[in-house]
Amino acid sequence: MMPAARRTSRPAGAAADAEALLREAFGAGTRRFDIVRRHGEQVAARALKIAAGLETPALDEAFLYTAAMLHDIGIVKTATPQLDCHGDQPYIRHGVLGRQMLEARGLPQHALVCERHVGVGITTADIRNRALPLPLRDMRPVTIEEELICYADKFYSKTNGGVKAAKSVHEVARHLKRYGRRQAETFIRWAARFEGLILS
Ligand SMILES: [Fe+2]
Repeated sequence: MMPAARRTSRPAGAAADAEALLREAFGAGTRRFDIVRRHGEQVAARALKIAAGLETPALDEAFLYTAAMLHDIGIVKTATPQLDCHGDQPYIRHGVLGRQMLEARGLPQHALVCERHVGVGITTADIRNRALPLPLRDMRPVTIEEELICYADKFYSKTNGGVKAAKSVHEVARHLKRYGRRQAETFIRWAARFEGLILS
């Protein structure tokens, strides 16, 4: 059987749905909407490009695109004025908040991407040891789609309106090291596996 054609741009249909949900949550014409949409597009493009080159045949590209676009939807409820978000929740909770929002919209798989994309995924030990304001459960990515979006996300900052160029693998690894060895090592493993990028 011929392998299915691989796509590296956004799948038709998925784009409209994701943007409509973001517009509803963030408000059309707001700076926060522009930031999260641009950032989502950067993450989606990288995740789709990686997916196109993977041996794994069964990645759902429409899911990958939509979930990448929506992974940060929860920031709207956080107190992050630099991103034009004026809620009352700490930023670290944007993953679980996004999960709640997307579950309420009947998107339980996309919801898990929200919860599991923060850092390289948060362990129960992280939550306990750092006294994070999160429910005590394992929030590490499980599926390859969850891992891909979590990985791709680390290269793109939302500050400067979400228009900054991608960080290098070195920059991301150095940043993650501040949170612990597991964080940096997980990312370095993903970089090799997904993009053949080896840290020298
Ligand atoms: Fe993100």
